[in-house]
Amino acid sequence: MSHAEDHEGTRRDFLYYATAGAGAVTAGAAVWPLVNQMNPSADVKALSSILVDVSGVEVGTQISVMFLGKPVFIRRRTQEEIEAAREVELSELIDPRSENANKPGTDAADANRTLDETGEWLVMMGVCTHLGCVPLGDGAGEFNGWFCPCHGSHYDTAGRIRKGPAPENLHIPLAEFTDATTIKLG
Ligand code: FES
Repeated sequence: MSHAEDHEGTRRDFLYYATAGAGAVTAGAAVWPLVNQMNPSADVKALSSILVDVSGVEVGTQISVMFLGKPVFIRRRTQEEIEAAREVELSELIDPRSENANKPGTDAADANRTLDETGEWLVMMGVCTHLGCVPLGDGAGEFNGWFCPCHGSHYDTAGRIRKGPAPENLHIPLAEFTDATTIKLG
């Protein structure tokens, strides 16, 4: 073995041990967050679902509530909005999935996006699926639903992406009616 080879071999060994050592430290440090996640404290548990009183939401209006640090849009759609959304062919949609946590694996038909069977109530994360801006609502954009001005994404009256850079329909969180005027998120 030449002197040069010997030197290189020593250096390789050193790099190997240094990397292995760093890995061991990282693995040790990662244990605590994991354990903590598995035992959420009482206040974290309480925040993981909220009740929203929607008795004051008129047809054709919406409210925004903060849930787990993000805005959630709750819209009570007009008959025109419902019909416009239901007339759309699935083949026209950019994202064919419902993106609805309550109906995993379903297609983006309007009926798979709404909270109730009449299609009046639409509950969605107010987070653009492009880079996370909060879209404007109340009939905004070319499809009369929501419009994200950050880079020009247009969503329809069911919150489905129709034009612009956003790749997915607005996501729908876990949600249900607990009585006629209360929606539980989470
Ligand atoms: S973040 Fe909405 S279009 Fe880019």
